[in-house]
Amino acid sequence: MTARKNSDDGLFDLHGRIAIVTGGGTGLGRAFATTLARAGADVALCGRRREPLEKTARELATEGCRVACITMDVTDEASIAAGLEAAGNQLGMADILVNNAGINRPMFATQLSAADWDAVVDTNLKGAFLVARAFAMQAGRAEKGGTIINVASILGLRAQKAVPAYMASKAGLIHLTRSLALEWARINIRVNALLPGYFKTDILGDFLATEEGWKVVTNIPMRRPGRLEELRGPLLLLASDAGSFMTGSLLVADGGHLLSSL
Ligand SMILES: NC(=O)c1ccc[n+]([C@@H]2O[C@H](COP(=O)([O-])OP(=O)(O)OC[C@H]3O[C@@H](n4cnc5c(N)ncnc54)[C@H](OP(=O)(O)O)[C@@H]3O)[C@@H](O)[C@H]2O)c1
Repeated sequence: MTARKNSDDGLFDLHGRIAIVTGGGTGLGRAFATTLARAGADVALCGRRREPLEKTARELATEGCRVACITMDVTDEASIAAGLEAAGNQLGMADILVNNAGINRPMFATQLSAADWDAVVDTNLKGAFLVARAFAMQAGRAEKGGTIINVASILGLRAQKAVPAYMASKAGLIHLTRSLALEWARINIRVNALLPGYFKTDILGDFLATEEGWKVVTNIPMRRPGRLEELRGPLLLLASDAGSFMTGSLLVADGGHLLSSL
Protein backbone atom coordinates (compact mmCIF):
# COMPACT_ATOMS: atom_id res chain seq x y z
CA MET A 1 0.00 0.00 0.00
CA THR A 2 1.37 3.46 -0.89
CA ALA A 3 1.62 5.93 1.96
CA ARG A 4 -0.88 8.79 1.79
CA LYS A 5 0.73 12.11 0.99
CA ASN A 6 0.26 15.11 3.25
CA SER A 7 -2.43 16.94 1.32
CA ASP A 8 -2.07 20.53 2.61
CA ASP A 9 0.54 21.34 -0.11
CA GLY A 10 2.52 23.42 2.35
CA LEU A 11 -0.44 25.76 2.78
CA PHE A 12 0.61 26.71 6.32
CA ASP A 13 4.32 26.82 5.53
CA LEU A 14 6.10 30.09 6.42
CA HIS A 15 9.66 29.40 5.23
CA GLY A 16 11.09 32.59 3.72
CA ARG A 17 8.60 34.81 5.64
CA ILE A 18 9.53 37.36 8.29
CA ALA A 19 7.23 38.09 11.22
CA ILE A 20 7.05 40.83 13.83
CA VAL A 21 5.38 39.94 17.13
CA THR A 22 4.74 42.78 19.57
CA GLY A 23 4.75 41.62 23.18
CA GLY A 24 6.61 38.59 21.83
CA GLY A 25 8.57 37.83 24.99
CA THR A 26 5.73 36.57 27.19
CA GLY A 27 2.38 34.76 27.29
CA LEU A 28 0.38 34.60 24.06
CA GLY A 29 3.03 36.56 22.15
CA ARG A 30 5.71 34.04 23.06
CA ALA A 31 3.39 31.22 21.94
CA PHE A 32 2.64 33.05 18.66
CA ALA A 33 6.35 33.61 18.00
CA THR A 34 7.07 29.92 18.64
CA THR A 35 4.27 28.87 16.28
CA LEU A 36 5.55 31.15 13.51
CA ALA A 37 9.13 29.95 13.99
CA ARG A 38 8.08 26.29 13.87
CA ALA A 39 6.23 26.98 10.61
CA GLY A 40 9.49 28.32 9.16
CA ALA A 41 9.35 32.11 9.66
CA ASP A 42 12.13 34.32 11.00
CA VAL A 43 10.80 36.34 13.92
CA ALA A 44 11.37 39.80 15.42
CA LEU A 45 10.27 39.86 19.06
CA CYS A 46 9.28 43.33 20.28
CA GLY A 47 8.53 44.65 23.75
CA ARG A 48 9.68 47.17 26.35
CA ARG A 49 11.61 44.77 28.61
CA ARG A 50 14.75 43.21 27.14
CA GLU A 51 14.96 40.19 29.45
CA PRO A 52 11.78 38.30 28.37
CA LEU A 53 12.61 38.97 24.71
CA GLU A 54 16.07 37.47 25.09
CA LYS A 55 14.75 34.46 27.03
CA THR A 56 12.21 33.72 24.28
CA ALA A 57 14.86 34.33 21.60
CA ARG A 58 17.10 31.69 23.19
CA GLU A 59 14.20 29.20 23.06
CA LEU A 60 13.40 30.06 19.43
CA ALA A 61 17.01 29.68 18.36
CA THR A 62 16.55 25.93 18.93
CA GLU A 63 13.86 25.98 16.19
CA GLY A 64 16.56 26.92 13.66
CA CYS A 65 15.08 30.30 12.71
CA ARG A 66 16.67 33.74 12.79
CA VAL A 67 15.43 35.85 15.70
CA ALA A 68 15.78 39.56 16.46
CA CYS A 69 15.09 41.13 19.87
CA ILE A 70 13.75 44.64 19.43
CA THR A 71 13.19 46.96 22.37
CA MET A 72 10.10 48.88 21.35
CA ASP A 73 7.23 50.74 23.01
CA VAL A 74 4.05 50.56 20.89
CA THR A 75 2.77 53.81 22.40
CA ASP A 76 5.73 55.76 21.02
CA GLU A 77 5.88 56.49 17.28
CA ALA A 78 9.64 57.13 17.26
CA SER A 79 10.25 53.84 19.06
CA ILE A 80 8.05 52.00 16.51
CA ALA A 81 9.89 53.57 13.55
CA ALA A 82 13.27 52.65 15.06
CA GLY A 83 12.02 49.15 15.94
CA LEU A 84 10.76 48.37 12.45
CA GLU A 85 13.95 49.69 10.95
CA ALA A 86 16.07 47.57 13.29
CA ALA A 87 13.96 44.49 12.52
CA GLY A 88 14.35 45.19 8.78
CA ASN A 89 18.11 45.57 9.10
CA GLN A 90 18.49 42.34 11.06
CA LEU A 91 16.00 40.06 9.27
CA GLY A 92 14.67 41.85 6.17
CA MET A 93 11.30 43.51 5.59
CA ALA A 94 8.45 41.83 7.47
CA ASP A 95 5.53 40.02 5.78
CA ILE A 96 3.57 39.25 8.95
CA LEU A 97 2.65 41.50 11.88
CA VAL A 98 1.12 40.08 15.05
CA ASN A 99 -0.21 43.11 16.96
CA ASN A 100 -0.26 41.37 20.32
CA ALA A 101 1.08 43.88 22.89
CA GLY A 102 -1.59 44.64 25.45
CA ILE A 103 -2.21 45.63 29.05
CA ASN A 104 -5.17 45.64 31.42
CA ARG A 105 -6.06 47.78 34.46
CA PRO A 106 -8.95 45.85 35.99
CA MET A 107 -10.92 48.39 38.02
CA PHE A 108 -14.47 49.59 38.42
CA ALA A 109 -15.13 52.60 36.20
CA THR A 110 -15.44 54.99 39.16
CA GLN A 111 -11.93 54.01 40.32
CA LEU A 112 -10.31 54.17 36.90
CA SER A 113 -8.22 57.33 36.50
CA ALA A 114 -7.81 59.16 33.22
CA ALA A 115 -4.17 58.05 33.27
CA ASP A 116 -5.20 54.36 33.61
CA TRP A 117 -7.70 54.78 30.76
CA ASP A 118 -5.02 56.38 28.57
CA ALA A 119 -2.46 53.67 29.36
CA VAL A 120 -4.83 50.86 28.31
CA VAL A 121 -6.29 52.55 25.23
CA ASP A 122 -2.91 53.94 24.11
CA THR A 123 -1.38 50.46 24.24
CA ASN A 124 -4.18 48.18 23.07
CA LEU A 125 -5.82 50.39 20.46
CA LYS A 126 -3.68 53.37 19.47
CA GLY A 127 -0.49 51.29 19.76
CA ALA A 128 -1.89 48.58 17.50
CA PHE A 129 -2.92 51.27 14.99
CA LEU A 130 0.50 52.94 15.02
CA VAL A 131 2.39 49.68 14.49
CA ALA A 132 -0.04 48.53 11.76
CA ARG A 133 0.27 51.88 9.98
CA ALA A 134 4.08 51.81 10.10
CA PHE A 135 4.07 48.20 8.80
CA ALA A 136 1.64 49.04 5.98
CA MET A 137 3.53 52.16 4.91
CA GLN A 138 6.76 50.18 4.74
CA ALA A 139 5.08 47.37 2.78
CA GLY A 140 3.32 49.89 0.51
CA ARG A 141 6.60 51.65 -0.35
CA ALA A 142 8.15 48.31 -1.27
CA GLU A 143 5.00 47.28 -3.20
CA LYS A 144 4.94 44.16 -1.09
CA GLY A 145 1.81 42.77 0.57
CA GLY A 146 1.49 41.37 4.03
CA THR A 147 -0.82 40.10 6.73
CA ILE A 148 -1.70 41.70 10.06
CA ILE A 149 -3.21 39.80 12.96
CA ASN A 150 -4.69 42.03 15.65
CA VAL A 151 -4.98 40.19 18.95
CA ALA A 152 -8.32 41.41 20.29
CA SER A 153 -10.45 39.51 22.86
CA ILE A 154 -13.92 38.12 23.37
CA LEU A 155 -14.24 41.07 25.78
CA GLY A 156 -14.41 43.24 22.67
CA LEU A 157 -17.80 41.63 21.96
CA ARG A 158 -19.19 40.64 25.37
CA ALA A 159 -19.11 42.28 28.79
CA GLN A 160 -17.50 41.55 32.12
CA LYS A 161 -17.49 43.82 35.20
CA ALA A 162 -14.55 46.05 36.10
CA VAL A 163 -12.58 46.10 32.84
CA PRO A 164 -14.07 49.17 31.10
CA ALA A 165 -10.95 50.50 29.39
CA TYR A 166 -9.87 47.03 28.29
CA MET A 167 -13.30 46.20 26.84
CA ALA A 168 -13.49 49.52 25.02
CA SER A 169 -9.96 49.13 23.63
CA LYS A 170 -10.65 45.62 22.32
CA ALA A 171 -14.02 46.61 20.83
CA GLY A 172 -12.21 49.48 19.12
CA LEU A 173 -9.49 47.12 17.86
CA ILE A 174 -12.12 44.84 16.31
CA HIS A 175 -13.68 47.71 14.38
CA LEU A 176 -10.25 49.15 13.50
CA THR A 177 -9.45 45.75 11.98
CA ARG A 178 -12.41 46.12 9.63
CA SER A 179 -11.47 49.67 8.71
CA LEU A 180 -7.85 48.78 7.89
CA ALA A 181 -8.90 45.61 6.01
CA LEU A 182 -11.19 47.70 3.81
CA GLU A 183 -8.51 50.31 3.17
CA TRP A 184 -5.51 48.04 2.61
CA ALA A 185 -6.97 45.20 0.53
CA ARG A 186 -5.94 47.19 -2.56
CA ILE A 187 -2.28 47.10 -1.46
CA ASN A 188 -2.54 43.38 -0.74
CA ILE A 189 -2.41 43.63 3.05
CA ARG A 190 -4.87 41.40 4.86
CA VAL A 191 -6.00 42.52 8.32
CA ASN A 192 -7.82 40.10 10.62
CA ALA A 193 -8.55 39.89 14.33
CA LEU A 194 -7.96 36.92 16.60
CA LEU A 195 -10.29 36.86 19.61
CA PRO A 196 -8.98 34.60 22.37
CA GLY A 197 -11.15 33.65 25.31
CA TYR A 198 -9.39 33.05 28.65
CA PHE A 199 -5.79 31.77 28.70
CA LYS A 200 -3.63 31.72 31.81
CA THR A 201 -0.93 34.39 31.32
CA ASP A 202 0.50 37.33 33.28
CA ILE A 203 -2.23 39.72 32.10
CA LEU A 204 -4.86 37.77 34.11
CA GLY A 205 -2.71 37.79 37.27
CA ASP A 206 -4.33 35.40 39.76
CA PHE A 207 -7.86 36.15 38.46
CA LEU A 208 -8.60 32.54 37.48
CA ALA A 209 -7.79 31.42 41.05
CA THR A 210 -10.35 33.82 42.57
CA GLU A 211 -14.01 33.03 43.19
CA GLU A 212 -15.01 35.45 40.41
CA GLY A 213 -12.50 33.78 38.06
CA TRP A 214 -13.82 30.32 38.94
CA LYS A 215 -17.35 31.49 38.08
CA VAL A 216 -16.09 32.72 34.71
CA VAL A 217 -14.44 29.36 33.96
CA THR A 218 -17.54 27.38 34.90
CA ASN A 219 -19.46 29.53 32.43
CA ILE A 220 -17.22 28.42 29.54
CA PRO A 221 -19.09 25.62 27.71
CA MET A 222 -15.82 23.60 27.53
CA ARG A 223 -15.39 24.20 31.33
CA ARG A 224 -11.72 25.20 31.14
CA PRO A 225 -9.43 28.03 30.03
CA GLY A 226 -7.61 27.61 26.72
CA ARG A 227 -4.17 26.06 26.35
CA LEU A 228 -1.62 28.24 24.56
CA GLU A 229 -1.03 25.55 21.91
CA GLU A 230 -4.73 25.81 21.00
CA LEU A 231 -4.02 29.20 19.40
CA ARG A 232 -1.50 27.68 16.96
CA GLY A 233 -4.03 26.67 14.31
CA PRO A 234 -6.02 29.93 14.38
CA LEU A 235 -2.83 32.01 14.19
CA LEU A 236 -1.37 30.00 11.30
CA LEU A 237 -4.63 30.24 9.35
CA LEU A 238 -4.44 34.04 9.45
CA ALA A 239 -0.64 34.29 9.06
CA SER A 240 -0.20 31.92 6.11
CA ASP A 241 -1.52 31.55 2.58
CA ALA A 242 -4.17 29.22 4.02
CA GLY A 243 -6.10 32.40 4.83
CA SER A 244 -5.36 34.18 1.54
CA PHE A 245 -9.01 35.21 0.94
CA MET A 246 -9.62 36.25 4.55
CA THR A 247 -9.55 39.91 5.48
CA GLY A 248 -11.62 41.82 8.01
CA SER A 249 -12.49 38.51 9.72
CA LEU A 250 -12.87 37.84 13.43
CA LEU A 251 -11.54 34.44 14.46
CA VAL A 252 -12.68 33.33 17.92
CA ALA A 253 -10.86 30.72 20.05
CA ASP A 254 -12.71 30.59 23.37
CA GLY A 255 -14.07 27.10 24.17
CA GLY A 256 -17.54 28.36 23.22
CA HIS A 257 -17.45 31.17 25.81
CA LEU A 258 -19.21 33.70 23.57
CA LEU A 259 -22.13 31.27 23.34
CA SER A 260 -22.63 30.97 27.09
CA SER A 261 -26.12 31.98 28.12
CA LEU A 262 -26.77 35.39 29.65
N1 LIG B 1 -4.50 35.89 28.37
C1 LIG B 1 -5.74 35.97 27.94
O1 LIG B 1 -6.65 35.27 28.43
C2 LIG B 1 -6.08 36.88 26.78
C3 LIG B 1 -7.36 36.80 26.24
C4 LIG B 1 -7.71 37.62 25.18
C5 LIG B 1 -6.76 38.50 24.66
N2 LIG B 1 -5.52 38.56 25.21
C6 LIG B 1 -4.58 39.53 24.61
O2 LIG B 1 -3.39 38.87 24.28
C7 LIG B 1 -2.33 39.81 24.24
C8 LIG B 1 -1.15 39.25 25.02
O3 LIG B 1 -1.50 39.17 26.39
P1 LIG B 1 -0.98 38.02 27.36
O4 LIG B 1 -2.15 37.34 27.90
O5 LIG B 1 0.07 37.22 26.69
O6 LIG B 1 -0.35 38.88 28.56
P2 LIG B 1 1.15 39.30 28.89
O7 LIG B 1 2.00 38.11 29.11
O8 LIG B 1 1.03 40.31 29.97
O9 LIG B 1 1.66 39.97 27.53
C9 LIG B 1 1.55 41.32 27.21
C10 LIG B 1 2.79 41.69 26.40
O10 LIG B 1 2.62 43.00 25.85
C11 LIG B 1 3.84 43.69 26.00
N3 LIG B 1 3.56 45.12 26.09
C12 LIG B 1 2.74 45.75 26.96
N4 LIG B 1 2.78 47.06 26.75
C13 LIG B 1 3.63 47.28 25.72
C14 LIG B 1 4.10 48.44 25.06
N5 LIG B 1 3.69 49.67 25.41
N6 LIG B 1 4.96 48.29 24.05
C15 LIG B 1 5.39 47.05 23.67
N7 LIG B 1 4.99 45.93 24.27
C16 LIG B 1 4.13 46.05 25.29
C17 LIG B 1 4.47 43.15 27.28
O11 LIG B 1 5.89 43.27 27.27
P3 LIG B 1 6.63 44.49 28.03
O12 LIG B 1 5.91 44.69 29.34
O13 LIG B 1 8.03 44.01 28.19
O14 LIG B 1 6.53 45.66 27.13
C18 LIG B 1 4.08 41.68 27.22
O15 LIG B 1 5.05 40.93 26.55
C19 LIG B 1 -2.90 41.11 24.82
O16 LIG B 1 -3.24 41.99 23.77
C20 LIG B 1 -4.15 40.65 25.53
O17 LIG B 1 -5.12 41.66 25.64
C21 LIG B 1 -5.16 37.78 26.25
